[in-house]
Amino acid sequence: MKIVSAVALTAALTALSGVALAAGDAAAGKTLYGGSCASCHGMSAEGQGIFPKLAGHAVDDTLAKLKKYKAGEQVGANTAMMAPMAAGLSDADMANVAAYLATLK
Ligand code: HEC
Repeated sequence: MKIVSAVALTAALTALSGVALAAGDAAAGKTLYGGSCASCHGMSAEGQGIFPKLAGHAVDDTLAKLKKYKAGEQVGANTAMMAPMAAGLSDADMANVAAYLATLK
């Protein structure tokens, strides 16, 4: 009995995380990126100077960093420039922009 319910729970959680991942809308992320991020990170998220390259980063990596910035945690030497940018992002914004960045090379 216990094994059966553990399997059912795992299946339910897998289905849920699938929904969460699908929630990242790369098209919406592209619009957000162009308006709010490209001025520093570059039109193609290729990075420039002190602004890190974001293109091609895994969704989970981008999300983890954005959440740290939003939470006020120090990430790199120039966190003070980036933290205010993340502060205004909703969870959906973060998921969308992370999905978009992962589509870039
Ligand atoms: C005012 C310039 C500026 C803008 C605008 C900006 N960033 Fe940043 N971003 C930075 C800087 C500087 C860093 C490096 C911060 C550090 O040292 O921790 C950074 C770092 C990051 C990182 C971590 C990269 C890594 O690999 O360490 C991510 C992810 C990121 N930015 C995403 C975004 C997103 C998404 C937007 C738009 C919503 C955005 N940034 C807008 C300046 C900016």
